[in-house]
Formats: sequence, structure tokens, C-alpha cells
Amino acid sequence: PSRYVLGIMDKLAADDEIPEMFIRPELEAATIQSHETAAIPIFDLKTLLSPGNTQLHHLYHACKEWGIFQVGNHGVSGEVLENLKVEMEKFFNLSKEEKTKYQVKAGDFQGYGNVIRCKDEKVDWGERFFMVINPTERRKADLFEKLPESLRDTLEAYFGELRKIGMGLLRILGEGVGMEIEEVDEIFENGMQTTRMTYYPPCPNPEVVLGLTPHSDSTGITILHQVNGIEGLQIKKHGLWLPVSFHPNAFLVLLGDIFEIVSNGVYNSMEHRVVVNKDEGRLSIAMFMNPKYEAEIGPSKKLISAQNPPLFRRMIMEDFVKDYFSRNLNGKSHLENMR
Ligand code: SIN
Ligand code: FE2
Repeated sequence: PSRYVLGIMDKLAADDEIPEMFIRPELEAATIQSHETAAIPIFDLKTLLSPGNTQLHHLYHACKEWGIFQVGNHGVSGEVLENLKVEMEKFFNLSKEEKTKYQVKAGDFQGYGNVIRCKDEKVDWGERFFMVINPTERRKADLFEKLPESLRDTLEAYFGELRKIGMGLLRILGEGVGMEIEEVDEIFENGMQTTRMTYYPPCPNPEVVLGLTPHSDSTGITILHQVNGIEGLQIKKHGLWLPVSFHPNAFLVLLGDIFEIVSNGVYNSMEHRVVVNKDEGRLSIAMFMNPKYEAEIGPSKKLISAQNPPLFRRMIMEDFVKDYFSRNLNGKSHLENMR
């Protein structure tokens, strides 16, 4: 059937050829893909966030070694997660006309649709909706407000929960590298939080497209939920792309560039991409926990010394984000500009 005839894929019928703009000729030949699934460490969030927890060094090693981990027992209710699935399905199933109302405008980055930054850039096989959540005064006027009410309510409930989890995680990650809580709070409290909802439609020839171009996130951390349980995320480890399998009740936490910078390279921001499949559409929602726009980011002063010189320069977050979004995604290349 034509489940993938949605949004930017609107032109496609079930038996159409895949348009050139999606096809990545380099993929088939150059991609080494492992058949083994990555064994991503999993933590019990409640234990992790309780005082005097004993898992801190495991977390530290997970972040150093993987730059990615899962959290179970996160406390977000099954009802909220079920509503999220229903509401996201409804949203991406809206007619093209309905979704176009939320379309990203030229020069902007919030709203529905894929932003292409240069004319030869390949288009990802996915429909996206990106927006600012917090601080609320940075929300785009009448974008969030115009979403269907039931989706809005569900998102507010979900983000409310995730914000608490996110702050807890940022603090404990800071603690793991020897930062003071105050230092973490100064950077991240009332920080910039954004979200991206994605629908990756099934693809008749999944080997020649990507759902999402390889990149690392420009965030402190990203909390990722695989909304309908379909997999597709891959991470790059030792030059090999490894499929990531989610525990069904866990969120995935990705260390972003900001934490790599703040930890002076102790933690690793993980390069990742998304592949799609022939039969099933995939839904995901990412919450990006960022510093305040005004925050100065750079290696934590607690972590630098004569023996450990800073590996990154200092920069205002807003400038870092502007730089990130002005580039084509290309793995972790944007981080070089910070050295
Ligand atoms: C992301 O990289 O931000 C999203 C990944 C995903 O959809 O699994
Ligand atoms: Fe990402």
C-alpha cells in the first residue's frame, strides 16, 4: 500500500523510481556495515539519579567508550508514551495540505519539512518537524499553538517529564567527569531545549538512501525515544556502522558535542545515522538538551591544567549553533572548528 506517500514523499507512488535527490551513490560501495547489533549499556534511571549511587563509574565508562547509553525505569508513564505514538501517527498522516501549514520558511529552521542547505545536498528519507520547546519565550509564535490540541497537550506532558530527567542526567554526567553541580547548572539550567519528531517512511530500495545523514548532535545530551518500536539507528564505532537495538521500555541518551567540549574530550559525542527499511515506517522523537544561548561553552575549568591543556576553544552557545546549522552535516567535522 502507499503508506509512504506522505509529505516530501508525496510525489512517490508505491512503484515509482526513487528520485535522484534521495540517492546516495557512495553508500553501497563505501559503507561497512556490521551485522552485529551494538550492545549499548543500559542503566536504571531511578538508581542512577538517587543520592550516593554506585553506578557512576559504569556511566563514566559508557560515555567514554560509547558516547551513548540507555535508561530504563525512567518513570514516564505508559499512557503518555501511548498518546505520543497515537498523536504522532495522526500528525504524519495528515494530508499534505494540512502539514504544509507548518512548513519551515526559508531562512528559518522551525516547522515541518527538510531543510536543504546546499543544492547538491542529498535529501534524507524522512519527514521532520523541528521546534524550540524551552525557554518558552523562544518558541516560534503560532507554530506550537497551531498544532492539533491533543498533540500539543501530549507533547507538553512528555517534555515536562523529559526536562526533569534531562537535567538530572546532565548533572550526573558532569559529576562523572568531576564537575561541580553549580557549573553544570550554570550552563544548562533554563537552557535551550528543542525537539525533532521524525517519520521515516518505508522505502522500496532502502540500500540507496539514508533516513538521516551521519552526524553527531550539537547538544549537551539528546534523549531519543523510538516511538513505534521500529529500529533504524546506527552508530559509528571504530569505522564500522553498528545497528542500535533499543530495549523496548528504555530511552536512548546520546552524548552531544557540547559535553565532549565541556569534558575536554573525556566524553565522546557519538556519530550516528538512520537507515530505513522496505516494510515499516519508523517514528522517533528526540529532545535536545542544550546550554542557554548566552552560555559560554568550553572545557570545564576544573578539568584543565598544565598536563591537560584545553582541547577546544571557548565560544558563546548561540555562535556555536549558528555555525553548526550553517554547515552541511558531515560526521563530526564541525567540531574541528572548535579546536
Ligand atoms: C537524531 O539523530 O536526532 C534522531 C535519530 C533517530 O531518529 O533515531
Ligand atoms: Fe542526531
